[in-house]
Amino acid sequence: MYTKDFLSPVILGLLMTGAAAMTPPFNITAISAQYGKSRIECWQLDSSFKVSTQPGVAGGAARLGDVNDMTYNVVPANYDGEFHNTPRNQWAVLLSGRAYITVPGDESNGLYVAGGDILFAADTANISRRGHRSQYMGVTETVILQIPTRHGEIPAHTVLHQGPCNASEAAGARQLGT
Ligand SMILES: *[C@@H]1O[C@H](CO)[C@@H](O)[C@H](O)[C@H]1NC(C)=O
Ligand SMILES: *[C@@H]1O[C@H](CO)[C@@H](O)[C@H](O)[C@H]1NC(C)=O
Ligand SMILES: *[C@@H]1O[C@H](CO)[C@@H](O)[C@H](O)[C@H]1NC(C)=O
Repeated sequence: MYTKDFLSPVILGLLMTGAAAMTPPFNITAISAQYGKSRIECWQLDSSFKVSTQPGVAGGAARLGDVNDMTYNVVPANYDGEFHNTPRNQWAVLLSGRAYITVPGDESNGLYVAGGDILFAADTANISRRGHRSQYMGVTETVILQIPTRHGEIPAHTVLHQGPCNASEAAGARQLGT
């Protein structure tokens, strides 16, 4: 009796720590805007990773919401996309190649994007005057999936900080389900 009463808060605490560690929130780098100016931010999505229960898949999975009308883009090598707004709120997934993204006034402090990276672009013309600049400076073409959200929705999130998410903010899902 005494042992059980003493242990239960400890066990409960351990279980809760374990549960929190097993559902790390999904952090993604986003291109958003504030005061009419695009900026790169690290977003923590409300959606978190859970151990995948889908047959044939191990590890962690996070639901990212409904999407609409995906396009597959092949951008030529060594192409400068200049400043532009994202035409709509959308996911951008770089499959191969590389890109360098900057925002006005901060052109030396850009974001390198490589194959496998996912971003959310939200600097539409109604919230950002100039948008962002995408440069594709690789020696091969760059392949990008653009995946607009349904009805232009922006995934529920909090802004962790300005600037891209760092390695520790992206690594937390790797140990799930192993
Ligand atoms: C800005 O425009 C986008 C794309 O048309 C739309 O989805 C979004 O709701 C608009 N945002 C505001 C704040 O009006
Ligand atoms: C990542 O960013 C967070 C928040 O700014 C910071 O606390 C952490 O030390 C950073 N980690 C690395 C590896 O830079
Ligand atoms: C997201 O960042 C938080 C720190 O703010 C970290 O605890 C968590 O593990 C990160 N999620 C992933 C999937 O890396």
